[in-house]
Amino acid sequence: MKLSQADFQERRDRLAEQMGPNSIAIIATSPEVMRNGDADYKFRPDSSFFYLTGFAEPEAVAVIETDETSQNYTYSLFCRERNREMEIWNGYRAGIDGAIDDYDADEAYAIDLLDEEIIAKILNKEKVFYRIGQRADFDAKLSAWTKKANDAGRGFGVPTTFMQLDQILNEMRVFKSAKEIELMQIASNISAEAHTRAMQKVRPEMMEYALEAELNYIFGQNGCVPSYNSIVGGGENACILHYVENNKPLKDGDLVLIDAACEYEYYASDITRTFPVNGKFSPEQKALYQVVLDAQIAAIDAVQIGHSYKEPHNVAVRILVQGLLDLGLMQGDLEQIIESESYRKSYMHGTGHLLGMDVHDVGAYKDENGQWRAYEAGMVVTVEPGLYIAPDDESVDEKWRGIGIRIEDDIVATENGPLILTKNVVKSIEDIEALMAQSK
Ligand code: GLY
Ligand code: MN
Ligand code: MN
Repeated sequence: MKLSQADFQERRDRLAEQMGPNSIAIIATSPEVMRNGDADYKFRPDSSFFYLTGFAEPEAVAVIETDETSQNYTYSLFCRERNREMEIWNGYRAGIDGAIDDYDADEAYAIDLLDEEIIAKILNKEKVFYRIGQRADFDAKLSAWTKKANDAGRGFGVPTTFMQLDQILNEMRVFKSAKEIELMQIASNISAEAHTRAMQKVRPEMMEYALEAELNYIFGQNGCVPSYNSIVGGGENACILHYVENNKPLKDGDLVLIDAACEYEYYASDITRTFPVNGKFSPEQKALYQVVLDAQIAAIDAVQIGHSYKEPHNVAVRILVQGLLDLGLMQGDLEQIIESESYRKSYMHGTGHLLGMDVHDVGAYKDENGQWRAYEAGMVVTVEPGLYIAPDDESVDEKWRGIGIRIEDDIVATENGPLILTKNVVKSIEDIEALMAQSK
């Protein structure tokens, strides 16, 4: 499954409509980034650029110009020209003809002509939409183009208003179409398969990176790459929220926390599972895990249309704190602990985030009045509560120290309630232990 050119065109239509008459939007893809010497990181197009164009080559800029009636717009794509020698070295290019024939551009130009051609496009427009502040080099370029247009027009017919393009694009990206959800479902299925394989393959004394390799095997077999750096943390490494070294041995009797997932056709998945290295939870691991699981299940159920974005977090915090009190890991009054946020030493992150083309996806979490937005159909979020008992937390009995647990699923808000995209990987204690027992 892939998006078609009609899907990308429909997005450009909606953007042009929101820009109004006599406006121009200019958006560049990501720069290529060098790793070292002559080696670069594998290129990944900018999400918003790809969202509008479906064009995945580097060195590309899209321009959308509305006319004075706002009924019509022109879509131009600046891209690399075809070049036999460069293509022998660096791979295929769509070129100018390809931009028009395969990517539905009305006009296409060599990227080298951008500085020249853009002046005539800016002249006689009232508003310029661009991603203000996103890239310093692009801010500088736009200033230079505006000055040139000013000089060329002798101060006449030059834009007077500069608008934040991201404000429109980010809001568009918050709501996923049925096709986008289909892509996210595929990403989630592949990621779930990877987590299942990790549960089957883990053994005491295996290195964390070797377990990461089992996940990468499934991603790679499906033509996917991780949507963020994988976290594979055994024992107390699970208490380091962004642990990515993944270079320690996994110990018998410890849990391992895996936060890893892939992207499919530029749509991300984001899954965390925590399970015992030897296949059996200890009594303390089991007790703490069940608290996190109860919190996660209740928080998922709070992803309901019309509910505040923050509700799953509030629901999760209440259950986590009650669990800490019940297990003797905290003392005091439930309401007071929630109010003072003193639980943050064991639960210091939010319960989720928007998910889409970026793992921490774009979009405002609050409205113009500073209130949390409400869930609407097509919003996709993660629900990922956890508990982390610091290895040096002397306020708790030693048997609890260094246990870190997080459980994370990807959820679509729908008219029929929360739709869990990542349900293909087990998460109950019984199901995890049963799966792991089968693969001994
Ligand atoms: N994997 C990043 C996160 O869960 O937010
Ligand atoms: Mn997440
Ligand atoms: Mn995650």
